[in-house]
Amino acid sequence: MTNGQILVAPSILSADFANMAKAVKDIEEWGGDWIHCDVMDGHYVPNLTFGMPMIKALRARTDMVLDVHLMIEKPEKYVEEFVKCGADYLTFHPEASENAEGVLDTVRSLGIKCGLAFNPDVDIKKYEKLFDKCDLITVMSVFAGYGGQKFIEASYERVEYIKGYILKNGLTAKIEVDGGVNTDNIEKLRALGVDVVVAGSAVFKSPTPAKTIAALQGVSKIE
Ligand code: DX5
Ligand code: ZN
Repeated sequence: MTNGQILVAPSILSADFANMAKAVKDIEEWGGDWIHCDVMDGHYVPNLTFGMPMIKALRARTDMVLDVHLMIEKPEKYVEEFVKCGADYLTFHPEASENAEGVLDTVRSLGIKCGLAFNPDVDIKKYEKLFDKCDLITVMSVFAGYGGQKFIEASYERVEYIKGYILKNGLTAKIEVDGGVNTDNIEKLRALGVDVVVAGSAVFKSPTPAKTIAALQGVSKIE
C-alpha cells in the first residue's frame, strides 16, 4: 500500500439482500479491498440483519477479506462460531461484552484478526489499554444500527486521539472509520492517517461504484 492509500470495505448492508452472491462479485469487480459485514442482533442495536450462516455463505463465494462487524450483545457467545464460518476480522463493541479482553484473546488464539469498535458516545480511554491486543480499531462515525446516516464531525478528533495513542505506544493496529464515509470527507480522513474506511451507501448508491471506490482509495480522482 502506498502512502495515503486507504483500504475500502464496501458494506453489504447497502446491497440487495436477495442477491448477496452478486454483491460479492460486484465488490470484487469494482476493486473493493475488503467486504464489510454488519451483524446486528436487535438488542445491542435496534436493527436485525444476519448472522453466522451469511458469513459462511459469503466465504464459499469469495477469497476476499471478510471484515465482520458484530453489533451484538455478549459477543463472547458467538465469536468461535464466526471464526469457524470464515471471518477474517472480527470486531465487536467492548461495552456489549462482560469480558472484552477475554474475547480479544479468544479471537486471536483462533488465528484471525480482531478489533474493537467504538460508538460515538463510548469513552475510548476506558478501553485503550486493550489496543495492543487489537489488529483493528473502528471509530463509528454514526451510531451503529443503520446505513445511510450522516457522518458525525466529532469523529475526526476521535480518530486523531487513537492515531496518537497508536504512534506513541508503537502499536500496529489499523484504524477503520465506519459510517457516512464518502468522497466529501475522505481527504480529511486520509490526512489523519486512517487505514480502512467502510462505505455502504457511498458505493452501492453510486452510479459509478468502481470510480467511487478508487477515489476513496486515493488511486484516482473523481471525474
Ligand atoms: C452502521 C454500520 C455501517 C453501515 C455504513 O451500523 O456499521 O457499516 O453499513 O453504511 P454507510 O456507509 O451508508 O453509512
Ligand atoms: Zn459496520
